[in-house]
Amino acid sequence: MGYLAIPRKYRPSKFSEVVGQEHVTETIKNAIKTGKVAHAYIFAGPRGVGKTTTARIIAKALNCENPHNGEPCNECQSCMAINKGAFPDVIEIDAASNRGIDQIRELRETVFYSPVKGKYKIYIIDEFHMLTKEAFNALLKTLEEPPEHVIFILATTELDKIPATILSRCQRFLFKKVPEAKIVETLASICGKEKINFETEALRLIAIASEGCLRDAESFLDQLAALSSGNITTEIASRFLGVLGSDILRNLLQKGFTGDRKGLKEILNQLESTGYNPSTIVKQLFNFIEKEFLQEKSQWNEEELTAAFEILTKNVKTIETHPFPYTALLFALYKLSYFKEVKRLSEIFKDISKLTINAPETKSRVKKNDANATWSSSEFNLEHYVKEIITGNNIVEIIPKNLTAYERLEARKKELEIKYGKRVIITKPAQNTKGKIVKLDSEAEKKVDKIVSLFNAKIVPGYPRKK
Ligand SMILES: Nc1ncnc2c1ncn2[C@@H]1O[C@H](COP(=O)(O)OP(=O)(O)OP(=O)(O)O)[C@@H](O)[C@H]1O
Ligand SMILES: [Mg+2]
Ligand SMILES: [Zn+2]
Repeated sequence: MGYLAIPRKYRPSKFSEVVGQEHVTETIKNAIKTGKVAHAYIFAGPRGVGKTTTARIIAKALNCENPHNGEPCNECQSCMAINKGAFPDVIEIDAASNRGIDQIRELRETVFYSPVKGKYKIYIIDEFHMLTKEAFNALLKTLEEPPEHVIFILATTELDKIPATILSRCQRFLFKKVPEAKIVETLASICGKEKINFETEALRLIAIASEGCLRDAESFLDQLAALSSGNITTEIASRFLGVLGSDILRNLLQKGFTGDRKGLKEILNQLESTGYNPSTIVKQLFNFIEKEFLQEKSQWNEEELTAAFEILTKNVKTIETHPFPYTALLFALYKLSYFKEVKRLSEIFKDISKLTINAPETKSRVKKNDANATWSSSEFNLEHYVKEIITGNNIVEIIPKNLTAYERLEARKKELEIKYGKRVIITKPAQNTKGKIVKLDSEAEKKVDKIVSLFNAKIVPGYPRKK
């Protein structure tokens, strides 16, 4: 036999070999075991994740002469014929090239003939969403009352294109993208059988490039094995797939955070001359940041990672459309250096609320949380008055919650400046915000931007945490 491509050679032959779709395979296996098979199934989900494969396994399990626990034996005549695609009662139709009503009419007639060899006649219709409206309608009746011995499996990548009338007559299964770790595991096991050497990071890159499509992952493996003469290194995989290894991603962020312009430029030059796509790099950075964020021990803290995410989000469109995308990427990454020592808002509050300010004594009772209340004690807690504080090296900007708070703070600005040892700016909030938390108006937004750029200030998003 000639060379068989990996995705075909390693097509799962039973339910237990289908990776990452246990929610589907387990349910169906049980239905088969208990004889409760539906007459029409819809298999929906992305490309290359096991829809056709699972449909064929069902066909085998139902026609197998020695099924075991809902699984086909893969050894009997029926199983072997189905595996070869040569079983008369398993009919595969590609709806993409048989879209019309005539084909469906024809199908409707053949449905009533009994199976030739097996117990069931199984129609697997791929790309089911491609049928014309008339064809869908023609099929409706058959789906409503199919003969006992017939089972339809309708596979599609676009569930939303299937008419509701069809959907309601079928049992629906949603296939998922195969998770990265499972792809790596599957590829590693194939490498073992094929005697292919590999670096695990290389398989991880394949998984990333395949975006959850196991068929693509297996094809990449096939090509890389040939390209590398059976020794798949991270470097070869990275170049071939145009996907960066995590050490380079880490390096890029690190150099960004430390403001190492030369270092950044050097790496980016290298990537550019190798031909990596900048928008893929950004996507991978997002992915990398997310992973670091979810990790117990990252070298970066929560604020830094949040900042990195936000800066990249702000710049991703620019990078993708810029005439010099690598330059845009350089500047975006450099901006991370502004966030070197981000401080949590609550920490700043802690500092500030330690300050004692001599407020005037008043007669009235005070509700603590009410920003309109008058100060009654010699201590006050900024938290009740302030929406956001932005600090730069020599400046503190305070954005009060409302006008009343603004006026009070403005009156004590000098004291704040002395106690805090920095210049203090108090931004006037929008009108009509009595007692409510204010959304920044565009003036305030502009101010914030200006301060950020002038004073190298750091914005820590969000509210102070409640203890
Ligand atoms: N879940 C999976 N487990 C194991 N192998 C898989 C899985 N999904 C895909 N494969 C591999 O990819 C090949 C193609 O899978 P399959 O034809 O079942 O995909 P599909 O979902 O029908 O894709 P399409 O929507 O493009 O028709 C299989 O032969 C197999 O090698
Ligand atoms: Mg398919
Ligand atoms: Zn069998």
